[in-house]
Parts: sequence; structure tokens; C-alpha cells
Amino acid sequence: MCGIIGIVGTAPVQDRLLESLKRLEYRGYDSAGIAGVVDGRVQRRRAKGKIAALQAVLTDSPLTATVGIGHTRWATHGAPNEVNAHPQSAGRVTLVHNGIIENFAELKRKLQSSGRVFESETDTEVIAQLLDAELAAGCAPLVALKATLDQLTGAFAIAVLIEGQTDMILGARRGSPLVVGYGQGEMFLGSDALAVGPFTNRIAYLDEGDYVAIDHSSAQIFDKDGKPVERPLKIVSASAALVEKGNYRHFMEKEIHDQPDACQHTLSAYLDPVSGKATAPGGVDFSKVTRIQIIACGTAYYAGLISRYLFESLARLPVDIDVASEFRYREPPVIPGTLAIVISQSGETADTLAGLRWCKAQGLTTAAVVNVHESTMAREADVIFPTHAGPEIGVASTKAFTSQVAALSALAVAAAAARGHVDATEEARLTAVLLEASRLIAQSIQVEDAIKALAPDLAKARDVLYFGRGAMSALALEGALKLKEISYIHAEGYAAGELKHGPIALIDEATPVIVIAPSDHLFEKTMSNMSEVMARGGPIILFTDDEGAKHAPPGIKVIIAPTSDDIVAPLVFAAPIQLLAYYVAVQKGADVDQPRNLAKSVTVE
Ligand code: M6R
Repeated sequence: MCGIIGIVGTAPVQDRLLESLKRLEYRGYDSAGIAGVVDGRVQRRRAKGKIAALQAVLTDSPLTATVGIGHTRWATHGAPNEVNAHPQSAGRVTLVHNGIIENFAELKRKLQSSGRVFESETDTEVIAQLLDAELAAGCAPLVALKATLDQLTGAFAIAVLIEGQTDMILGARRGSPLVVGYGQGEMFLGSDALAVGPFTNRIAYLDEGDYVAIDHSSAQIFDKDGKPVERPLKIVSASAALVEKGNYRHFMEKEIHDQPDACQHTLSAYLDPVSGKATAPGGVDFSKVTRIQIIACGTAYYAGLISRYLFESLARLPVDIDVASEFRYREPPVIPGTLAIVISQSGETADTLAGLRWCKAQGLTTAAVVNVHESTMAREADVIFPTHAGPEIGVASTKAFTSQVAALSALAVAAAAARGHVDATEEARLTAVLLEASRLIAQSIQVEDAIKALAPDLAKARDVLYFGRGAMSALALEGALKLKEISYIHAEGYAAGELKHGPIALIDEATPVIVIAPSDHLFEKTMSNMSEVMARGGPIILFTDDEGAKHAPPGIKVIIAPTSDDIVAPLVFAAPIQLLAYYVAVQKGADVDQPRNLAKSVTVE
């Protein structure tokens, strides 16, 4: 997970850049670097490995700059080595980048055919080359930056130095976060408040699509259309600088918005966009696995349920899945060749941990899909399948859930390839499709206002039903859990086909029904179930995509998420479903981040 810092200072910035990079270490990285302006020229220092390696480089060759940028890199495009480490340079431009440029290959081909020579394998260098080309064509820095951003597809944040513009750093964000820090005669850019925390507690959070130029005393901020804008200044408290809400009212809201970044960082740990390969960390050989046993609780269990569809359909691997509190006492027969996968945000959930220990004691290979990498499950499992959601503070799990789904989806592709059920071309296609997820999630969050408008009515309901088919039936369960845990409205999720086996008896004019139905091969069947509900007067809110919306009957409310491949649809529909629960809870004035009776980590049975 990459981290960014930029300082327009009045004193040498080297040590402060390093201090900030150390604060960004929690995000995970495999190389680091800084750059600064010395005598009008940009100089770089970079090293593979930990920040100590960069410090050693700086001891031999200090950087005396008072304006500089720094970066911790989590390798995505290109191996973790010094050449691929950031900052990346091209001509007058030197920059650091967090995120993935999805159309980098196409842009790189064009730039190469115009005579530009690349030194790294990174997608980042494409941004530097593009920006340098715009400057070389005579554009002013901010005009060149806007023209460059307009050519990029993907989720990213950047900080940029331009030779000849020695007291200025440019920045931009789309999908990945970036903050502006206001000091005394000094200004900062950083991935989060933590990055700039040692230097200032006065912070503005850039909005999606914003770009910015900072100098010694000010920030000029522009929105995605190039209109000058102001973003509110926040005073961040010392403790909040550790994990803070930014401009958001609740951690849950922030964490819903964190999901493009969280999923991208998670997917980057499994998928190589250059080779198109999916890899299972820890040397797990799926060709030798005969069966998967998933064990988890709550939301993590629903992430497991979603992944079952993929492990079975793509990798042809049988999957059993149990809630941990049942599994641990069920005494199931032990089937050799089983890979036991526990899923947990905290890595400390008592029942899940007991399930892990039971499987280990039976001699099964165990793997933990876990977000807290120092947790007990992470330490005790044979293998860690990490999620990189960052700290999740809201009790209602959001970004940890989608990161779990992302990691498991990538593992299903790795398993399918290892078992020979997809060829290299299909593996590369699935890899590319998954790597687009974070952009689609960012788009799906844009339905926020439409969802907010539904909250006043839904908040009056006593009961709400959710249904869907396939992986969307698991998302229906998760949607119902989200709603009940933070709004205290009774909600249940069902596989749509189950409705007429009982739940349809609950339908009346006062029982809203949430239908999750992308336009996939099950769409028509779900529409039939929806008609059965409508015939009984149940008010419907349909979550679908553009194509699905064309078939929506009149008189129902429709929320349109981006069109997506089946493999990423659960990720794309998750955020709108979470937002619905969030806004209903806000409408009811509930304690969103700390719902009654619930704990973030359930360490007792
Ligand atoms: O830390 P874990 O992922 O093991 O926690 C599991 C559940 O307790 C958790 O997902 C819970 O259901 C959340 N409150 C759901 O939002």
C-alpha cells in the first residue's frame, strides 16, 4: 500500500520526509524514496526494502532540499527494486503515486511511439512522461496537470515536483486519498492526517477528482472540472491524527468511501497487472487442494459465502462454509486435502480462532484472510491471505468486508489457474476485470445522494426484507445485517427462490423489500420473484445496473450501480447496500459507529 508525503518547507526537509514515511509504514511497502529541489534541480534518493535502507543511502548522500516529496511503494507494476521505486522522473517532472493507472499500457505505447524512453516498469512513469510532454508543449503546470489527469483511467493520488517551479508541489486525487496540511510558512501534502501529523494539525481533505498546487503559504484547489474550490480546514486532534474521520460524519461513512483504495491495495497483493497472473501468497498450491472449508462469523462469513460461488464455478473446488460458533462444536469428519480458511477482520474473534485451532489440531493446512496482520489468527495460521483495508473503526464492517471479498475473488482466480480450469488468457482477463473493481466501486459510491433520499421512508419501517440470487443472495444477507445492526430495524436476507417457501407471508404494504439484481443470467428469475412481491403490495427498492433498470417495472424505486462483470458485481453492489443502511441509521439518529450491544472484536465465545 503506497504512502505519499510532500513538503514545501523553509528548512531542509529530508528528516521530516523520513519521519512521515515511517508513519506511513503501517500501510505496507517494499521500497521507499524521496526527491527534492537542490539548486533548482530535482534530485532523487531511492532504495529497495525498508526505510532503514533509504536512510543508509541518505547518510552517504544527504538531500539538502527544502522542498521535497517522499513515498513508500507497495509494488504493483514492476518488481520492488530501486528503478521502480518512487519518485519516478521524466524530463522536468518527478512524482510519487498511490494507486493504479489502468490504461497505462495503451498510454505507454503512444508515448513510446512519439519517441519517449521509459526507465521503469511502473505505471507511474506514464504519468510523469505525459505531464512532461504537456509541459514541453508549452502548457503551464496546472494546465498540464489537468490535461494529464484527463487522460488517466483508474484510482490514484499523486504529488509532483516540476523543475523550474522550485517552491511548488502539485497534487491530485481520484479514488485514493490525499490531504493538504497548512503549517506556518510551510505547506504539506500527505496520504492521510497521520502522514502530516508531526508538522501540522490543520488539514483539508481533497474531494474526489480534486487537484491542487501548494506553495509556502497557500493551496490552490480545483475540482475535477478545473473550477477553483475551497475545502474546509479541519483541526485534527493528536489522537485523531492516528485514525481520523476526515470530512466524514462517522467512521462508517469514511470507511465506505475508503473502499476503492482498500480493495485496490488488497487486490494488488494477489494480482499482477503486467503478467496478468493471480498468485496465492504463502506458497499455497491449489492444485493439491481437494476441498475448502471456510470458517467465519458475521460479515466475514458472508464474504466467505460470496467467495464460494467463485471457488466452485471458476476453480471447480468444493467449498463447505460454517459460522464458527457452529463449526467448532460440530465435529465434522476431517477430509484430507482440505484447506481450512478462516476469515476475520480483527483476527481475534474467539469462535473463529477456535475453529482455526481445531483444524490445525486435525492436521489440516490453515489459512487466515485477515486484516490485522499481527493478530492471533495471523500468527497461528499456516498461511496469511492478507487484506489491506487499513484500520476499521466503525463496528459495522464495510471496507474489511469488501477487502475480504476482493482477496477471496483473487484467490479463486489463482486456484482456477493452478487447477487448469482457466488458461493464461482467461486468467489475464479475470485479473484485469478484478483490477477494475476499485474504479467501479468509486463509481458505485456516487449513487450516495439517491440512496440518502430513500432513507426517510425506509427509516419508518418495522421490518425490511432483502433478496437476491447467486452471490447476491449472500449480499442480501449482509445488507440485512448492516441495516439491523446500526439502525435497529428488523431485517432479513433471503435467496430470492426461497421467498415462496415462507418469507412471502411477511409481505404487505408496510414491509419494504430490497432486491439486488444485476443484469446477469439470474436476472429474469429474480424479476419473477420481485413480481410476486409486487402482487402482494410490497414496496420495492431495486438495486441493479443500466440494463436491469430498462426492465424495471413502473412504480418501484431503482438504484443504478455501474455495469460490471459477474466476478466483481458483489464488490460493486456492496457500497450502495452499505450506504442504504448508513443513511437509515443516520435518519434514525442512531449511534452509527458504536451500535448498542455490539463490539468491534468479539473475543469471547
Ligand atoms: O473481526 P471479525 O471479522 O472476525 O468479526 C466478525 C464479526 O464479528 C463482524 O463481521 C460483525 O458481524 C460486524 N459487526 C458486522 O458488521
